[in-house]
Amino acid sequence: MSAAPLHGGRLLAAAEQFRIPLNDWLDLSTGINPTSWPVPALPDHVWQRLPDSYAPLEAVAGDYYGAPVFAVPGSQWAIQTLPSVLNAERVWLPLEGYEEHQYWWQQYQHRMLKYETLDSITPQHGDSVVVINPNNPTTHTENPETLLRLADHLTTLQGHLILDEAFVDPTPHASVLHQNRMLPDSLVVLRSLGKFFGLAGVRLGFVYCNDAIRARLQPKLGPWAISHPAAWIGEQALQDTQWHRHARAWLMSQQTQLHGLLQQHIKPTQLHSTPLFCTVQLPSAKATDLFNHCAGQGILLRHFPQWDRIRVGITTKNGLERLQSALQCWDL
Ligand SMILES: Cc1ncc(COP(=O)(O)O)c(C=O)c1O
Repeated sequence: MSAAPLHGGRLLAAAEQFRIPLNDWLDLSTGINPTSWPVPALPDHVWQRLPDSYAPLEAVAGDYYGAPVFAVPGSQWAIQTLPSVLNAERVWLPLEGYEEHQYWWQQYQHRMLKYETLDSITPQHGDSVVVINPNNPTTHTENPETLLRLADHLTTLQGHLILDEAFVDPTPHASVLHQNRMLPDSLVVLRSLGKFFGLAGVRLGFVYCNDAIRARLQPKLGPWAISHPAAWIGEQALQDTQWHRHARAWLMSQQTQLHGLLQQHIKPTQLHSTPLFCTVQLPSAKATDLFNHCAGQGILLRHFPQWDRIRVGITTKNGLERLQSALQCWDL
C-alpha cells in the first residue's frame, strides 16, 4: 500500500528546510486563484445555527454548473468515498494526475490499470475510468464530446466515467455539463469551489451523478457535513456572475503573462498552461534545480519528482515581478 500523497501548500516544511520565515514566502505551489471571491461578513445566524437545508445552495449550484448536483465537503470527499460505492472490478487511471484518485481506489482493492491517452483504454463490463479534465498537473485537456462518447460507451458496459472537473471553471464550455444534451447514465462529475473561486479553505464541492449512485453516496455524508458558513458562502459566490466574468478574464490575462515569463527561460515544448497554473517538464536534475533555486529565494513551486514536472500557480502582478527577478539568475 502506497503512502498518502503529498500536496502543494506545505509552507511550514519549506520554511524550515530553507530557513526562510513563513511570512516571507510567495506560495505558487497550489493552482488556487490568488484573488479569491471576496467573502463578506457573515450574518450571525449562519454561525449560530446548524444548516437547515442545502436545497437553496444546490438550486443555485445547479444553475451555475448546468446540471443537478449535490453538495459535499470538497470534491476530495467524493474522491475518497466513490470507490466504496461503485462496484468496479477494474479502474482505469491516468498515468499522471492528482494522486488521491489512485490512493483511494487502492484502499478498496480495486484492480488498477494506467492509461497514457484515452484512446488506449479498452474498457470491459463494469469498468470505471477516471479522467481529470483539465489534468493536474499535466494541463492536458480533453474535448467534452470525446468524454461524452466514452461515457456513452461505459454506459453500455454498465461502467462509470468519473470526471474530475476541479479546474474547469475558468473555461466552462469545456465542461461536459454545458453541452446541452442528455447526460449518460455512467457519468459522475466532481466540481470544486477551491480552485477558480480560490476558496479551498471553505471545503465545498459538488457531485453530479445518476440517482442510484446518489442514493448510495449521499447518506455517507451524515448530517451537517457542509458547515453553515460554507453553504452560505457557496450560495453567494455561485450567483455572483459579474465576479465570474471578471475572474475568468483576469485569470486568462495572468496565464498569458506567466506563460510568457516562463517561456523566456524554458523551451515551448516543455511548458504548458491553464488559467490556474503552468506546468514545466524538465530533465530530472534541472527540475530539482529550478525548484531549489526558487525556494532559495522564498518562492514555493510544486515539484513532482516522480514525473520531473514543476507546477507554477497563477499569481498577481507582484508575484510575477518576484518570480521574474528570481528567474533572472536561473538558466536551463
Ligand atoms: C484535480 C483535483 N481534484 C480535486 C481536488 C480536491 O479539491 P477540493 O477537495 O478542495 O474540492 C484537488 C485538490 O488539489 C485536485 O487537484
